[in-house]
Amino acid sequence: MSGFIPVNEPVLDGNEKKYLAECIDSGWISSEGPFVREFETKFANRVGRKHGIAVCNGSAALDAAVAALRLQPGDEGIMPTFTTISCASAITRQGGIPVLVDCDPATWNMDSSAVESRITSRTKAIMVVHLYGLPVDMDPVIEVAMRHDLRIIEDAAEMIGQTYRGKPCGSFGDLSTFSFYPNKHVTTGEGGMLVTDDDHLAERCRSLRNLCFGPARFVHEELGWNFRMTNLQAAVGLAQLERLDEFVARKRHSFARYMTLLADLDGMQLPVACTEYADNINWVFGVVLKDDVRMDAREAMKRLTELGIGTRPFFWPMHEQPVFRKMGLFTGERYPEAERIARRGFYLPSGVALTDDQMVRVADALRRALA
Ligand SMILES: Cc1ncc(COP(=O)(O)O)c(C=O)c1O
Repeated sequence: MSGFIPVNEPVLDGNEKKYLAECIDSGWISSEGPFVREFETKFANRVGRKHGIAVCNGSAALDAAVAALRLQPGDEGIMPTFTTISCASAITRQGGIPVLVDCDPATWNMDSSAVESRITSRTKAIMVVHLYGLPVDMDPVIEVAMRHDLRIIEDAAEMIGQTYRGKPCGSFGDLSTFSFYPNKHVTTGEGGMLVTDDDHLAERCRSLRNLCFGPARFVHEELGWNFRMTNLQAAVGLAQLERLDEFVARKRHSFARYMTLLADLDGMQLPVACTEYADNINWVFGVVLKDDVRMDAREAMKRLTELGIGTRPFFWPMHEQPVFRKMGLFTGERYPEAERIARRGFYLPSGVALTDDQMVRVADALRRALA
C-alpha cells in the first residue's frame, strides 16, 4: 500500500503561478490590484449575475449578506439545521434568530416542503444551503418566499459549477454566496464571493466589506468589516475559474467511479446520483452507515484512517451546538434526520486531484473497515 490518500488535494497547475508572478512583478498584492475586479466580473458572469463582490472567505460572505439585508434583532431567518456554523452565526451575529428545518433523508439538503410551516410574523429571510452534491429543491422555496415577501440568501459555497433545472446555483438568491477554500471547485486558498443582480445590495456589500468607509474617508455612518480579498488570492481564483468545467467533469467522473465501486456494499446509503432538477456534482462523496451496521461514523473513520484513507465527518446540526444552547436557542428542538446522518455520515476522499487508482484503494479499505 502506498501513501495516505488525503480527503482533498487542490489542482494548481494552470495559470496560477503565472498570474501570481504578475502580482509580484507589478507590486499589486493588496485588494486594490486588477485581478480582484477581473475575478469578480468573470465569476459573476459564470453564475449569470450582474455583480460579484470578492471577500476573504465564505463565512464572511454570509456575514455580509445577512448584514446587507438589514436583519434586525429578533428577525427570523429560516435555514437548515444540517449545515456549517457559518450560516447560523451570520444570523445570530446580527441579533437574528435562526429557525431550523430538518433535512431530506435522501438528498441530505433542507426539506423544502417544511419551510412554509416555520414562517412567523418575524420571518425576514430564508437561507438555503446546497450541500455535498445536490442543490436544494429551489422552486418550492422561491414560491414560498414570493408569497410571503421574504428575501433569499443562497449559500452556494459547495456548488460552484452546479445547476438547478439548468440555471447556475448562485443565481437564485437576492444575495448568493460562495467559498473558495481549497476543497471547493475553485480555490483561492481562503476566499469567498457574494453575487447579486441588485445594484443597491451590491453597493452595500462592497461598503460592508471595506469597513463602511464614507465619502469622507475615516468617517463612518455604520460598522463594516475588513473582508477584502487580495490580488494574490484573486490571481489564483482566476486561474482556477479558467478550469472550472474540467474540474467539474473530473468530479462527475469520480462520482460515477465511486458509485460503481461501492454498488455492492450493503451497509451504506450512497449519495443520490440525480434528481429531476440536477445531477450530483460530487463536491464531496458522502456515505451514511445504515442502522443495522454496528458502528458509528466515528469508528468507521478511525478504521479508514488506520488503512491510510482520509475522511471527514458530516456536519453537526445547529440545534445540537453547545454555543447556541448556551445562547438559549433551540431548547428541546429535535430534527431526527439531521441527528441520524450527523452520527452515521462521513465523506470519502473527493478532491479534484483524486485518481482512479486511489478510488479503488478507498473502496477496498471501506470493504475491510466495514467487514
Ligand atoms: C455550505 C458552506 N457554507 C459556508 C462555508 C464557509 O466557507 P469558508 O470556509 O470559506 O469560510 C462552507 C465551508 O466549507 C460551506 O461548506
